[in-house]
Amino acid sequence: MSRVLCQLEDITDGEGRGFEMDGGGDDIFVVRRGERAHGYVNVCPHAASPLDWVENQFMNIDKSHIMCATHGAEFRIEDGFCVQGPCRGKSLAPVAVTVRDGHVVLD
Ligand code: FES
Repeated sequence: MSRVLCQLEDITDGEGRGFEMDGGGDDIFVVRRGERAHGYVNVCPHAASPLDWVENQFMNIDKSHIMCATHGAEFRIEDGFCVQGPCRGKSLAPVAVTVRDGHVVLD
């Protein structure tokens, strides 16, 4: 069942936004890149902590990668693969999100 998370323009281009999941699932976050959205479970593969210490701060300084605030691991935006840090070679768990009619939809 699909669920609308927000409007795409609610997420600043190049930034991420977290969403709480009802019903006990892990929380997720979505990163916007232009008209695209990439979703992941908000659990770092290194030590299983949420990536954002500060709410909705999911990116590194130059916004080129997703960053875990706990130990600084960096992940590719497009596939969640860790390119730097203690969990290098592992990946964030993907969450299927699409952009439809200007809305970010969880599939
Ligand atoms: S918990 Fe994310 S880098 Fe250690």
